Amino acid sequence: MEQGNRKPSTALIVGVTGMVGVALTDALKMPNTLGGPWKVFGVSRRPLPTWFPSPLLDKHIILDTLNQDNTKEILSPLASQITHLFWVALQANESEERNISSNSTMLSNVLSALTSSPNSKLSHVTLQTGTKQYAGPITDSVLSSHIIPQEPPFKEDYPRLPFPNFYHNLEDIIFSYSKLFTYSIHRPSIIIGASSRSYYNILLTLSVYALICKHENYPFRYFGNKYTWSHFCEVSDARVVAEQQIWASITKSAKNQAFNCTNGDMFTWKMMWKVLCDVFSIEFVTFDEKDKFDCVDFMKDKGEVWDRIVEENGLYKTKMEEISCFGLLDTVLKLNIQNSGSNTKCKSRRAEGKMGRGKIEIKRIENNTNRQVTFCKRRNGLLKKAYELSVLCDAEITLIVFSSRGRVYEYANNNIKSTIERYKKATSSTPNTWSPQEINAQYHQHSNCEDDVVDDFGNQYNPCVSNGASSRKTAI
Ligand SMILES: NC(=O)c1ccc[n+]([C@@H]2O[C@H](COP(=O)([O-])OP(=O)(O)OC[C@H]3O[C@@H](n4cnc5c(N)ncnc54)[C@H](OP(=O)(O)O)[C@@H]3O)[C@@H](O)[C@H]2O)c1
Repeated sequence: MEQGNRKPSTALIVGVTGMVGVALTDALKMPNTLGGPWKVFGVSRRPLPTWFPSPLLDKHIILDTLNQDNTKEILSPLASQITHLFWVALQANESEERNISSNSTMLSNVLSALTSSPNSKLSHVTLQTGTKQYAGPITDSVLSSHIIPQEPPFKEDYPRLPFPNFYHNLEDIIFSYSKLFTYSIHRPSIIIGASSRSYYNILLTLSVYALICKHENYPFRYFGNKYTWSHFCEVSDARVVAEQQIWASITKSAKNQAFNCTNGDMFTWKMMWKVLCDVFSIEFVTFDEKDKFDCVDFMKDKGEVWDRIVEENGLYKTKMEEISCFGLLDTVLKLNIQNSGSNTKCKSRRAEGKMGRGKIEIKRIENNTNRQVTFCKRRNGLLKKAYELSVLCDAEITLIVFSSRGRVYEYANNNIKSTIERYKKATSSTPNTWSPQEINAQYHQHSNCEDDVVDDFGNQYNPCVSNGASSRKTAI
């Protein structure tokens, strides 16, 4: 594997509470992450939400990067530490001209603050843009009707479309600094990630729509067109995007390159609609072209219904307008283009070196912080997997995890006690089938776990667990 930078690295994530910002924070702090160990600083305008894994951040900086003076005052003193800038911020506006103006100002202010000191350590800038590079400014109500998109599958070296696009301006700003640092440009498709602080979180928006339909007994109608209903589309998991960005930031052959970044598996929206129906236990309604349904208009007055759903289910407090983007979703579901990018360039560069994260050796983690972080992440993973298994396969599951400090974390899709009774009954006549080695392995893991993790990072972070199933943390 080519790794250009072996010195201790400090990442500054601008847009840390967005979908990829959260995934980057997680990924950079994994014990075996490429280029690590990383110090991670994060910027956003608002304070961190309670679901954010705040123990992972070495510093959170509250800053509006549109403000040049504040940006200089706050970031210049850190220029001698920050080696890598991850640009995953966004200010979304109605017109592309305003997108260009605000996003360019933000990036210019940050780069100027990080490079003006003679002690600046900035060596690489990661710029996240997207497949609008190939589809054009689809959110601009005037320009969007004139766009002729590129030929799919989109390739990184296609010439720019002749339309204003703030991605071009951000690229040009980065290019103008090419003597000072290397860069990589990342072009995801629709991003799927866990954040209530994103302008455009399409899966969250669909989930809000599904839950409102379920709550109010409305049919869950598809509001796109026939093309998207039956043609292939693809998405980019925020974790996949974060991993590619980290790889490119420390890999020689990825320097000064642009990369598409999608999960690699295709789906039609018809398939996705069925999945959503299964997940939210709602009836599947097939698409009817004659049914002219305006979802943006339909959702306009549903804020109060969302408030009730939040209240009744004890969900993380959000306002529907802040977490949903029905306008963009409506546009995306009505596109007449095959939304598909080629991942070949990234795949072949990665194949040249050793791909991905190294394998972790299964032994006790000595570093206290890393051990706490790993406990947190793997526990959440375990709870999520248990939930998924129960939904996907109708399995009855009770999962109980004790931290080394005796804190208990549990998940059950049924009543815990009745599942335990069922277990007792099922095993009373059957001898325990675990081998002594398996039991030892279990014992070893439990007795070696240590310390607990900061409270806020727990179950709130997994927005998936709900649906009447219990998932909670109890201090004992
Ligand atoms: N969302 C998608 O599906 C998608 C798909 C493909 C490409 N992209 C592209 O990816 C890039 C990042 O978008 P995203 O959707 O990943 O971001 P996002 O989830 O909307 O996150 C935006 C982040 O930027 C912060 N932020 C916004 N304005 C700021 C400012 N003035 N100063 C400091 N922080 C600020 C926000 O926090 P605060 O609000 O608290 O400041 C938040 O942390 C954009 O170029 C976007 O077009 C997005």
